[in-house]
Amino acid sequence: MCGIVGAIGNIAIAKYLLKGLQRLEYRGYDSAGIALMDKLGDIHVTKVAGKIANLIPLVDQSVEAVSGIGHTRWATHGPANTENAHPHLSASGRFAIVHNGVIDNYKELKERYLSDVEFLSDTDTEVVANLIDRFVSDNKEDELEGLRKALRLLEGSYALGIIDRKHPERLYAAKEKSPLLVGVADEGHIICSDAMAGISVTKAYLLIQDGDLAILTADDVRIENLSGEVVEREMQRFDEEDSDLDKGLYPYYMLKEIEEQPSVLRHITSLYQEGLEDLPQVLKELEKAETIYMVASGTSYHASCLAKRWFEQILNKRVEAHIASEFTYEMPVISQKPFFIFLSQSGETADSRHALVKVKAAGYPSLTITNVKGSTLAREASYSLPLLAGREVAVASTKAYIAQLAVMAYLVYALKGELPDLLKGLKQVEVAMERLLSQKEAIRDVVKENLLDTRNAFYIGRGLDYLTAMENALKLKEISYLQVESFAAGELKHGTIALIEDGTPVIAIVTQAHLAKQTRSNLEEVRARGGRSLTISSSDLALEGDTVVVDAVPMRLRPFLSVVVGQLIAYYTALEKGYNVDQPRNLAKSVTVE
Ligand code: M6R
Repeated sequence: MCGIVGAIGNIAIAKYLLKGLQRLEYRGYDSAGIALMDKLGDIHVTKVAGKIANLIPLVDQSVEAVSGIGHTRWATHGPANTENAHPHLSASGRFAIVHNGVIDNYKELKERYLSDVEFLSDTDTEVVANLIDRFVSDNKEDELEGLRKALRLLEGSYALGIIDRKHPERLYAAKEKSPLLVGVADEGHIICSDAMAGISVTKAYLLIQDGDLAILTADDVRIENLSGEVVEREMQRFDEEDSDLDKGLYPYYMLKEIEEQPSVLRHITSLYQEGLEDLPQVLKELEKAETIYMVASGTSYHASCLAKRWFEQILNKRVEAHIASEFTYEMPVISQKPFFIFLSQSGETADSRHALVKVKAAGYPSLTITNVKGSTLAREASYSLPLLAGREVAVASTKAYIAQLAVMAYLVYALKGELPDLLKGLKQVEVAMERLLSQKEAIRDVVKENLLDTRNAFYIGRGLDYLTAMENALKLKEISYLQVESFAAGELKHGTIALIEDGTPVIAIVTQAHLAKQTRSNLEEVRARGGRSLTISSSDLALEGDTVVVDAVPMRLRPFLSVVVGQLIAYYTALEKGYNVDQPRNLAKSVTVE
């Protein structure tokens, strides 16, 4: 994954790099570093294991930088230590580079071209730095061709920022499969993995594409392909404000994002009713499709599973939900008239993108529903619709999930011709959600009593409640590090019940009237074996002793509420355990490696 930044020109370089990296920390936070080029052509590298906060005090702010690059890492090759942190210098010290992506053939390249080089790290990136140095040095007549030659040899994915001691007036950026933008500022240029990193400097970005090499100076940008031909790229504005990204008085982004959910629902319903560019065409495509394939990862996959049920139950439409990383390599039999939907908060998930590439190659129509305008998946699908959740920063996805449910419900009810029913139902959900959030401290008490003294827990449910259980279990395990599994309540007795011991917490979700009795009897089976039973129920199905009772909104929309209970359970468990809620270990927000 990783995030990269770079800048050249009359910009406060070190300040931008550090602030930009903080904005990109959601992409990885194992280690961080920057390289500053001074006007004499000296490169000053500072890097450290851990977060940007560890890096900031070490950076020599007195360096008068003319350009610079920076990196925040999610380790793929070698442990998260200072040696493996980026930027990496070539052995001669001429080039410094930062890299997001994975070079699949780095070992072959190392053996074939760099057997005489002594490497200081375990990374594929250091190989790239030396490969560039070798090819540029061997092509003194046409150094740019040397650089292009090195890039042409790379297999895999990369977004690269490169500075060269011999050309302090230049900053190179190259992209293949990993996201990268070139920002145009008043007196200079920047590069970044995500516009969020650069918003304090510019809102105007050139959308460079796979196979591009950008040569940036203080007052010019030239973009070429790897054959050296100049290419034109579209300019896009990103209108986010710096203040949109602050967590204000909230201790963590996750809590802020959980609390924003009622307003996210309002925003979606009002903007979708006003009309969106691709919406009419998308509805036509959905109507004529014989089978809809939903492809996604993690939380977005869970939202796809729920949407599948709505399509089937409300429209009698055949839908398959697939995990992107599985779909890519073992495609199911595809029906005659398929339509593909890619749900992705970030729009950059490598597994989903890989699946989309295959779908496009097969000539099938596709739709990306994403929270990030201009993201790779949004650009590459036939159609795109926005999630409109506002920037989600916490690694654990909350409001984007709610937005995915809302957008999918909108499509289903619009096709059914019953939008007024949905809008009325979502109004009730909004009110109920506000009420639930105002009582969130009660959920903290539930957590303190039941989840702090255990190493594992289970979520169970049937029907839509099972699909919510899947999402709630992921949320809890992701940030509290408890071993949490979700099960279809009726399935527990077919094996997993063997794991229930004295005091094992089992949280049952009971919001579906036709399944409530069965789920409750499965919970009884757990209790009989010593399990600690907890229940999230709807008020019309509640029994005395239920742990959390949410308002009874229309049956099919109840997951909107039971998932918020799960989010709060996860949040308070991690908080009470003293973990960094927004940046759980081993994870990153945007998963751009396969
Ligand atoms: O950006 P995407 O929606 O494509 O991301 C997919 C998953 O990586 C993501 O949902 C992940 O599971 C979340 N961290 C879960 O909270």
